[in-house]
Amino acid sequence: MPKHFLITAGPTREAIDPVRYISNHSSGKMGYAIAGAAAHEGHRVTLISGPTTLDVPHGVDFLPVETAQEMYEATERYIKKADIAVFAAAVADYRPIAVPDQKIKKSSDTMTIELVKNPDILASARSQFGFNGTLIGFAAETENVIENARGKLERKQCDLIVANDVSRKDIGFNTADNELNLVFPKKVSSLEKASKTSLAMELVNIALELNQGE
Ligand code: C5P
Repeated sequence: MPKHFLITAGPTREAIDPVRYISNHSSGKMGYAIAGAAAHEGHRVTLISGPTTLDVPHGVDFLPVETAQEMYEATERYIKKADIAVFAAAVADYRPIAVPDQKIKKSSDTMTIELVKNPDILASARSQFGFNGTLIGFAAETENVIENARGKLERKQCDLIVANDVSRKDIGFNTADNELNLVFPKKVSSLEKASKTSLAMELVNIALELNQGE
């Protein structure tokens, strides 16, 4: 039976002024690969994505967003219809508190930008949006990969956290390959280094198995 996947992907952009922004190195490749794999298997896919240079996978409902707040609102709106939600986006944790209408002029030697916390979309899935389907998050870590992922699994009430070590140059951000640690509530396993496309197919199958077990 086809399922409905909701996937967040890519970075978010948080405006500093009309011409500048804060963002990160997420390419969106992992999320797009999962979206493509799920659609290829005949599932319905809603892909909510921050700005990337990638082609939208065939057969996917695409919702482009820019900021964390826009991603939050799109997710809140569409998650109710989903069976499986995969949060692969690298959402900016903070945004500038005030965005002037005009470009900020260069003046003193130092400048301070005050930031305010963005909403945590994954943590809101169960607690704010009432989502009770299969919930999968990602964790980009530079140290204590498994312990940090386990903390996220519990705090954000996920069925699975897919963790990767972004301190390594050969995998993770902006690369074609990845190597994934899978942290479930009762076990930990891993998927060996492979292309994001082939890992995406494996993740889609794991998500479907988790969904069947619910
Ligand atoms: O806590 P951390 O940001 O490392 O958690 C990563 C997971 O949470 C990812 O699945 C990411 O998509 C999600 N997330 C989110 N909204 C945020 C921050 C992270 O959905 N504001």
